[in-house]
Amino acid sequence: MDLILASQSTMRRRILNAARIDAQFMSPQIDEENITKSLIAVQALPRDIADTLAEHKALKISRKNLDSWVIGCDQILVFEGEVFGKPVSPEALKDTLSRFSGQTHSLVTANVIYKNGKPQWRHVSISQLSMRIITATEIDTYIEAHWPVVKHSAGGYHFERTPDLFSSVRGNWFDIMGLSIDPILSFLNQNQTGSPFQTPRLAAVLGHPVAQSKSPLMHGHWLKTNQVSGDYIAIDIPPMRFNTTVRMLFDVGFSGFNVTIPHKEQALALADDMSSRAHRIGAANTLIKMDSGKISADNTDGYGFMTNLVSQSSTWLPGAGPSLVLGAGGAARAVLVALLDAGVPKIYLCNRTRARAEDLAADISYCIEVIDWEDKQDILPDVFTVVNATSLGMTGKPPLEFDLKNVNPDALVTDLIYAPLETQLLRDARARGCEVVSGIGMLLHQGVPGFDAWFGSWPAVDEELEALVLS
Ligand code: ATR
Repeated sequence: MDLILASQSTMRRRILNAARIDAQFMSPQIDEENITKSLIAVQALPRDIADTLAEHKALKISRKNLDSWVIGCDQILVFEGEVFGKPVSPEALKDTLSRFSGQTHSLVTANVIYKNGKPQWRHVSISQLSMRIITATEIDTYIEAHWPVVKHSAGGYHFERTPDLFSSVRGNWFDIMGLSIDPILSFLNQNQTGSPFQTPRLAAVLGHPVAQSKSPLMHGHWLKTNQVSGDYIAIDIPPMRFNTTVRMLFDVGFSGFNVTIPHKEQALALADDMSSRAHRIGAANTLIKMDSGKISADNTDGYGFMTNLVSQSSTWLPGAGPSLVLGAGGAARAVLVALLDAGVPKIYLCNRTRARAEDLAADISYCIEVIDWEDKQDILPDVFTVVNATSLGMTGKPPLEFDLKNVNPDALVTDLIYAPLETQLLRDARARGCEVVSGIGMLLHQGVPGFDAWFGSWPAVDEELEALVLS
């Protein structure tokens, strides 16, 4: 199908790519400002303004590309009967945001499809967005952080970057982003003979901060290699706004989320149901919207740890003997549950802050014995698995000072750290003849069950993915 998107918007382009539609992208360059002014002067309705602008754009491109289907788009923001364009200055944006604060405004999204210079189809959607009450200081901070990007957007915000500015929304993600993909695909499917296009499913990683997350890279790769119609993005949500924002994102159409620091406990608390492993770990890294509408929480960190371990090692047997786990944070907790579930008979748990290890052991199983941080070397002859679940040895952190001279050469040594890929611990263990497993596979495998739940296919963890994530 020969299709052109008559729009400069990177988000609209992204949505078509997510739907696996091969399109050309052209910029129509119409005099939007003057057309809008003249329509406002004749008191045109907001939906007619958006529709007319979308038509102008599609027509201009269609005239030069008569055989193509051309999608024209426009979106306008309306508040108290007034049409809001791009903010002309930071001061003007401050004024706009103080007016929107605690109030509801509308986003009118118009899409048209032209062929042979003639309209074939049109659609207008109206989404209602309620902004929470935002203080003047918050507005200043927001403008300082986001002005260079949001100055190009009507209303001066990007919903996808700061959804936490809103308390509730009536509408769906694609309409808010400016491309009503569902009705567009219905029309295109009626006019093409290939296999039907599917509405993209949506997922995201939620964190604070979130820019460091490798998940968009991983899931983006899987979406492409599996040819799935879907998109996966990263969204930064401050902890105070986590619950409201997650519920709102589910309401606008998200199938689910990965959840990272510092939201894992809150994610578990907001879910209606949870897997038993999430319950035992006491935190969730995966949220899934079920067909019933309920939110289900899972924790795949332990699954990722164990799948990595058994896929990297040909010899590791859980029943061979006790394990030693260093660390008592969230990562250690997931590892303890995974080791016990796999059948490890006993675990020595060792943490700088002993009390934290004792709390963890008491919470999880009587099969965990806490030992002093200073005694970790002495226990080595008795253990068949050694796991570093502390942050020591990570690039930029202090080294893990751990003398392996007593290690059992039949033991397997693994590190959750993947930067560097081979830690000093793994180098020392390898030198003593131990089998070693690096941490990168845990990161890759933990993403698999979520991808399957949201996008409906079980993705591969392979060298290509590993190289991509490490690049
Ligand atoms: P995560 O959720 O990734 O496990 P965390 O909760 O911050 O992160 O846990 C980090 C682990 O590394 C903890 O076990 C921590 O020990 P404490 O409980 O004593 O803080 C351990 N860790 C961090 N820095 C350390 C250091 N300098 N020496 C020893 N252990 C350290």
